[in-house]
Amino acid sequence: IDIKALRGATGGITTIDPGYKNTGSCQSAITFLDGEKGILRYRGYSIEELAEKADFLETAYLLIFGELPTKEQLAKFDSDIKSESHVDEDMKKILDGFPKSAHPMGVLSALTSALIAFNPSTVNVDSEEEMYNAIVKLLAKFPVLAAWAMRKKKSQPLDYGDNSLGYVENFHKMMFSKPNEAYTVDKEIIAAIDKLLILHADHEQNCSTSTVRIVGSSHAGLFASISAGISALWGPLHGGANQAVIEMLEAIKNDGGDTKKYMAKAKDKQDPFRLMGFGHRVYKNFDPRAKIIKVAADEVLGQLGIQDPVLDIAKGLEKEALEDPYFVDRKLYPNVDFYSGIIYRALDIPVEMFTVMFALGRLPGWIAQWREMRLNKEPIGRPRQVYTGENLRAFKEVSER
Ligand code: ACO
Repeated sequence: IDIKALRGATGGITTIDPGYKNTGSCQSAITFLDGEKGILRYRGYSIEELAEKADFLETAYLLIFGELPTKEQLAKFDSDIKSESHVDEDMKKILDGFPKSAHPMGVLSALTSALIAFNPSTVNVDSEEEMYNAIVKLLAKFPVLAAWAMRKKKSQPLDYGDNSLGYVENFHKMMFSKPNEAYTVDKEIIAAIDKLLILHADHEQNCSTSTVRIVGSSHAGLFASISAGISALWGPLHGGANQAVIEMLEAIKNDGGDTKKYMAKAKDKQDPFRLMGFGHRVYKNFDPRAKIIKVAADEVLGQLGIQDPVLDIAKGLEKEALEDPYFVDRKLYPNVDFYSGIIYRALDIPVEMFTVMFALGRLPGWIAQWREMRLNKEPIGRPRQVYTGENLRAFKEVSER
């Protein structure tokens, strides 16, 4: 497409497309998604194969730089990230200022923004080298902040991590280590988190990613763009759905487990209730991530010997929806958020941290999209509107109104 020919069309026709349901905002070589067939690929690799064989850090490298890393490239990437994992002591004063009741997503967004003050070199970045330095700083510090947000919630002392551990294991340690106890974790738990993070790592031009690109398009720095993306992700129609799903499943359980009652509520147009974790703007078939996560939920709960009644409720809702003309006609299937919370819960991750887990997973995708946007020298994002307000009016003094 000759994008230049489409640029600067002042005085031409303005299309209006609420929610950008049919508007492409950019050209991108990162993630391929076929919503009709339920296909998702990162840089050409199927999500099924990556979830099975890759780890999160190499998936991050793939998304950001376009190719799977060689052993040497991965080792350098890992050590560059580790060398940047320190978070300034003064950041803790900001953390201390939050009430315990603060939602971890609000804390994470604010702390990511606050990081800018301590890392000014990440703001005006133009060269690939400057971008790389900003990227490794963020990949290094973000899991620290995410773990801090949980520690704050639980009023627990902070853990400083251990750079001899892998990226995901170190994050797990920062969340779950106990004072005066040697930290150990089953490799199955780390594998489950790795898989969930990979499945969340990118999803082309969704609400939070479009936010990151549009904020970054003003040449605001990487951290500011990501902080805005975190805020966008928080909403229950987007990443916040994973928290809303588990709260919904709990409510159904506490209400006697009557799934039919909630199916009826979801179909009632007078009732604002929606079946959380169902439906997707692009998938009009099974969300391939949901398929993998559903299998993983069975595996993880089996390995940990956990029987969670909400998993049965979730499966019951899915079965009913697949046979219900309302859901079938509208092509509403479980999305990525429907089963993920059941795994997070089994791993002892608090409900309010679910969307933070999503944010950590999505971080490489946001970064890759921001980098692509800057390297492609995209123009500032600035949609037009169709004005529906008053025509010219004469001002009246307050005494005359
Ligand atoms: N429960 C009941 N009805 C639904 C649901 C649902 N979860 N989702 C969509 N519908 C209905 C709508 O009411 C609408 O019906 P209508 O045609 O009779 O008016 C129709 O299906 C189309 O829905 P829209 O809202 O127009 O679809 P849109 O693409 O704008 O929204 C969205 C997609 C936001 C994901 C929506 O399906 C939803 O709210 N789902 C629940 C929240 C959720 O799970 N969000 C996570 C999405 S995945 C992610 O962001 C990581």
